[in-house]
Amino acid sequence: MLMLRERSQLEELDVLRGPRPLVLVPTMGALHEGHLSLVRQAAELGPVVVSIFVNPTQFGPGEDFDSYPRDLQSDCDLLAPLEVAAVFAPAVEEMYGSPDGVMVQPGHRARGLCGAGRPGHFSGVLTVVAKLFGLVQPDIAVFGRKDAQQCLVIRQMVEDLCLPVRLIDGLTVREPDGLAMSSRNRYLNSAERKQALCLSRALKTGEDLLRQGERRREVVEAAMAAILAEADRADYAVVRQVPDLETPSAMAGMTLLAVAGKVGPARLIDNNVWHITPEGLEPGCLLGTGKE
Ligand code: PAJ
Repeated sequence: MLMLRERSQLEELDVLRGPRPLVLVPTMGALHEGHLSLVRQAAELGPVVVSIFVNPTQFGPGEDFDSYPRDLQSDCDLLAPLEVAAVFAPAVEEMYGSPDGVMVQPGHRARGLCGAGRPGHFSGVLTVVAKLFGLVQPDIAVFGRKDAQQCLVIRQMVEDLCLPVRLIDGLTVREPDGLAMSSRNRYLNSAERKQALCLSRALKTGEDLLRQGERRREVVEAAMAAILAEADRADYAVVRQVPDLETPSAMAGMTLLAVAGKVGPARLIDNNVWHITPEGLEPGCLLGTGKE
């Protein structure tokens, strides 16, 4: 596994470019099984580059940029047994040369949900993802469905800016009790860890209602919100249509159930994507599966 810390070393990736597509898995490190599942999915497609970079521009004032867990050695230990061709782990100065550099402005999909409570967040995400695409020049990039809005905002950037990269979304990996894995789960004590289950339970409640045939959005959202109220702060419990994240007028087609809230010191998010057909619910997807 190559370890690349500087942009100039990215030339070494040229040897990886061949008939099989080069696949990028962008991360901020503090890796867990969710990240590793994306890496395994990527490795089925071609040589994998994992980027590890805690991106300052996607954190707002008062957010956890300084305290975000950083442990490159243990991240590399987790990646070592997997088929990873290279890790790209640049310093901040490598990625952001000048303080007033170009930033990518997200489209309307970034306005609601997490974008409403985290101004500038998605501009930071898009800017770093565009830089990583430019530096690594992957044929395919893999993102986790757990960050559904992030997936759809990135998809819009790739489509609108005509970037030559194919996007794939990987399934959300959960703890046995349903909690979606997140680098921020390590901020939780054992009582908060139990409390955090209200996010996945809220989604399950929404799913159950949809399976019973409920198609009134307000009813589904209210039922999810009632469960999410167990969080210390509930940010949203909503139903949105995919890919534009607009409020659906009729609940049909690709549909996102999304929740976010604060538990103890951690702001957590979770979601499920369903394809609603006249026959019922099927698991949905946001980007691609890699099998098309
Ligand atoms: P990070 O939170 O480290 O997540 C890296 C990737 O792992 C993202 O695509 C995220 O959706 C995915 N992921 C996180 N938890 C997951 C889980 N439980 N199951 C499956 N996938 C999961 O997301 C970011 O970093 C950053 O915003 C980034 C895209 C790297 C830009 O800085």
